[in-house]
Amino acid sequence: MPHGRITGWATHLPEKVLTNDELAGIVDTTDEWIRERTGISSRHVGGIVTTMSTEAGKSALAMAGVAPEDIDLLLLATTTSDQRFPASASVVQHSLGLTCGAMDLNAVCSGFVYGLVTAMQYIEGGLDRVLLIGADALSGIVDWEDRGTCVLFGDGAGAVVIERSADEPTLLGWDLMSDGSTAGILYCDHGGNIVMNGQEVFRKAVLAMESAARKSMDRAGVTTDDIALVIPHQANVRIIEAAIKRLGLPMDRTAMVLHRTGNTSAASIPLAMVDAIDAGRVQHGDLLLLVGFGAGMTSAAAVIRWDPPAR
Ligand code: UT7
Repeated sequence: MPHGRITGWATHLPEKVLTNDELAGIVDTTDEWIRERTGISSRHVGGIVTTMSTEAGKSALAMAGVAPEDIDLLLLATTTSDQRFPASASVVQHSLGLTCGAMDLNAVCSGFVYGLVTAMQYIEGGLDRVLLIGADALSGIVDWEDRGTCVLFGDGAGAVVIERSADEPTLLGWDLMSDGSTAGILYCDHGGNIVMNGQEVFRKAVLAMESAARKSMDRAGVTTDDIALVIPHQANVRIIEAAIKRLGLPMDRTAMVLHRTGNTSAASIPLAMVDAIDAGRVQHGDLLLLVGFGAGMTSAAAVIRWDPPAR
């Protein structure tokens, strides 16, 4: 059975930074409230999914040393495609010079992990190289008059190149879940803005993260003791702390980037992952637990063995 492994990675954030203090000039809020209730200090705004994805994708390809024509499939996890159609993936496919199939995948904030699991199945099915991007531009769909939501979200993109490898599997266990009965607690209608029951999302998110994480670890045959680093969806530091505590893990084994990105939906896990790699927190052979949740409510987790090629 062929296996995929991550051979290149990169992120992109739009230039414009919006601080909590600047937000306090737009809605009735304070830097103190936002930091205490969410852990967020600033976020990047003004992003465009196809532009951010192209930048992140280009850098990931360069890092992997893979030519555009050698990519067999582009998967773009996003909930904020530039247009209703074409899929942003098709626009990015052209701007990167790829000569392969391309599609958007919408599992909202769980999208990157859904995409990772999906990409690995394509590799096992015979493809050689998949480019996976998670990108969202939530600043374009928040209600800038709703202090309960506009302080939370930001824009960004993260990309990974996944290549067929003869080595051992790197995706050791995974879980994908959706509970559509709770779709009404977090949604955005066509042409509308994000609507959220924050407390309900909070409660359900903690349980969904714990469940997905436990199932993926069970399927991988590992325990929390084996996990070197958890890479959670970056929504709210309090949600992450509560889920990590329920799993019996310490916060110092958790990747965190939301203080400077806010919640970037499908981009949040690759942003946190690449930040941890750049900070030297991920070593060859480490087991990483990626775990996310999002509107739907979707949840997703994956245990991966970090096995990039030697450089
Ligand atoms: O990817 C998934 C995306 N969504 C999430 O992850 C959201 C999950 N939920 C949360 O993160 C939290 O519920 C929030 C951060 C949204 C809110 O925190 P909370 O501790 O649940 O606050 P709350 O909704 O209970 O509101 C407490 C108070 C309210 O005032 P009153 O009724 O007590 O007078 C709110 O009106 O805080 C007020 N409030 C604010 N005050 C200052 C709500 N937003 C703000 C704000 N600044 N930005």
